[in-house]
Amino acid sequence: MKIKENLILAKKSGFRQAWLTAYDYPSARLMDESGIDLILVGDSLGMVVLGQKDTIDVTLEEIIHHLKAVRRGVKRAPVAADLPFHTYETPDQALASARRLVEAGADAVKIEGPLLDQIALLVSNGIEVIGHLGMLPQHVREEGGYHRKGKTESEAEELLQSSFALQAVGCCALVLEIVEETLAEKISRQLDIPTIGIGSGPQCDGQILVTPDLLGLQPWFRPAFVKPKTDLATPFQAAIRDYIRETKEATKTDKRI
Ligand code: KIV
Repeated sequence: MKIKENLILAKKSGFRQAWLTAYDYPSARLMDESGIDLILVGDSLGMVVLGQKDTIDVTLEEIIHHLKAVRRGVKRAPVAADLPFHTYETPDQALASARRLVEAGADAVKIEGPLLDQIALLVSNGIEVIGHLGMLPQHVREEGGYHRKGKTESEAEELLQSSFALQAVGCCALVLEIVEETLAEKISRQLDIPTIGIGSGPQCDGQILVTPDLLGLQPWFRPAFVKPKTDLATPFQAAIRDYIRETKEATKTDKRI
């Protein structure tokens, strides 16, 4: 439970967490060497790497494949991995799936929703668990979109109680996705474990983003709450176009390429 102890200590000292997702060796290595606090092999893999419309069809095998690549690139930061949809329907299934992620190199696993029995079993088996409340992307089809959570009093109360329950059952941190900012602030103030916001305002104890969103690598899809730090799609395409032009223009004796 070293990650949990470190995270609680960091929160007490006012140290904010900057987390990102990664799915491959070079990105993970660059992030690790840049000082990122935690790398998540998220099931956003489905959308930002595999070209799927949501995260629902991502499999455990796919997460493991990408997790192994990320693991090879990381020396310093903890690496966490998502439990994909339908891989944790019972506590025993959750434990079997989580053990496979740990064997593949995960230091922690993340699970969507207030699944207390599943999480309790993982924690009692020595597995570090990151909780995830608010908008749960694995339920996007039944919800008909990505909606902000905690707007009504009853939904806010339910989220607050679930946050306490996830802490009590042993989570080391709690991701809050697209949660009302005032509620995210209230939860953050009341928990000992850090809250990690995504689209939940600046008062969480840290933030996580899907890296291609941050780097502007997917101009065709940008969540409203993301302010990209750069626009890598433009130099990417410029380099490809330049390469195509140069290759097509070169004569066979041209030494430039
Ligand atoms: O899969 C993912 O990328 C996530 C986000 C919270 C970052 O779960």
